[in-house]
Amino acid sequence: MQNQRVLSGMRSTGKLHLGHYHGVLKNWLALQHEYECFFFIADWHALTTEYENPKKIQESCTEMAIDWLAVGINPKDARIFVQSQVPEHAELHLLLSMITPLSWLERVPTYKDQQEKLREKDLATYGFLGYPLLQSADILIYKAGHVPVGEDQVCHVELTREVARRFNHLYGREPDFKERAEQAASKMGKKTSKLYHKLRKGYQEQGDTEALAAAQALLADQQNVTLADRERLMGYLEGGSKIILPEPQALLTKASKMPGLDGQKMSKSYGNTISLRDDIDSVAKKVRTMPTDTKRVRRNDPGNPEDCPVWQLHEVYSSEETKAWADQGCRSAGIGCVDCKGPIIEAVQAELAPIQERAKMFEEQPDLVRNILNEGAEAARDEARKTLIEVRQAMGLYR
Ligand code: TRP
Ligand code: SF4
Repeated sequence: MQNQRVLSGMRSTGKLHLGHYHGVLKNWLALQHEYECFFFIADWHALTTEYENPKKIQESCTEMAIDWLAVGINPKDARIFVQSQVPEHAELHLLLSMITPLSWLERVPTYKDQQEKLREKDLATYGFLGYPLLQSADILIYKAGHVPVGEDQVCHVELTREVARRFNHLYGREPDFKERAEQAASKMGKKTSKLYHKLRKGYQEQGDTEALAAAQALLADQQNVTLADRERLMGYLEGGSKIILPEPQALLTKASKMPGLDGQKMSKSYGNTISLRDDIDSVAKKVRTMPTDTKRVRRNDPGNPEDCPVWQLHEVYSSEETKAWADQGCRSAGIGCVDCKGPIIEAVQAELAPIQERAKMFEEQPDLVRNILNEGAEAARDEARKTLIEVRQAMGLYR
């Protein structure tokens, strides 16, 4: 059922680091077993800001796919593909652009924020203003029910909901909608139809949202209802039009607790990352040169873990026992910072070892990676085409 469908994307901007792994990818790994997942590499989105370096974007697509596969995103469970291989996203984006007021795009908070942040680039472009709407098309083309995103992207899912609502309102009106919906209801059989009407009444007359949810679940369970009839019945529950593009929900990804090497959030722009494919030696070197509590100038000076970025890594990686050892040793100057960093180095290396082993396997087989992405794109296109056919029909486009 479409509500069980999850869609998310990531801009192709290069190799991924531990922040991506602990924040986004682990979450995807869990979702891929529970939902029908579509994960895509957003190369068009990357172009909106990196249009001067298209070559870099292309290389990043392969690297990103390798990183996803290496952490365990499984093409048997999730469809993974590159956005530009599914041109249907672009057609839907164009069609949605016809009905989207400019003001909706201008007031998306990321629009001004990003322009400010990326001052050195000229982002007064049509593509940059429109990218949240491209994101809406990404989501709606699969009729995704859930969209895992970080806090900063929730506003884009909100925009998507508004655009979907407007689309359904404008084009979901069939002249004989009510009759068709009633007909569809009777096709479900007497008993189910009666229950459906009762629940619909409960929602429409008493605002009973539980009745609405129950009715939606009832429809989701019907095996012998056509897609079009299901949409009519869903739409009829809430009002007078057919729901062609269902409104998605944001599935908020908790901000990653993964600190960077300097205690700030791990991010490429801060230069404080450990990449998933950093070799063992450079992991050791990066951790060894991390700053520590500045009050520990000499080995004999006691320190305070709360003022130390290394401690934040203990919080992520260490057992209670190791943490107690580090905390006590730091406060009493019983251990040195080099000692304290030892278990961290080992833990990160142990976490990365299997990932790197798989990454190596995929690096050595570029054809395999390409095939996985091609197959993912084909599977995604099958779904995307279905939605586009309905959208074109609803808008009355010439066929
Ligand atoms: N805009 C998102 C980001 O910058 C990436 C993205 C593009 C996306 N399309 C999407 C995320 C659709 C979720 C759903 O991170
Ligand atoms: Fe930081 Fe550990 Fe050194 Fe204390 S002992 S300052 S927690 S690295």
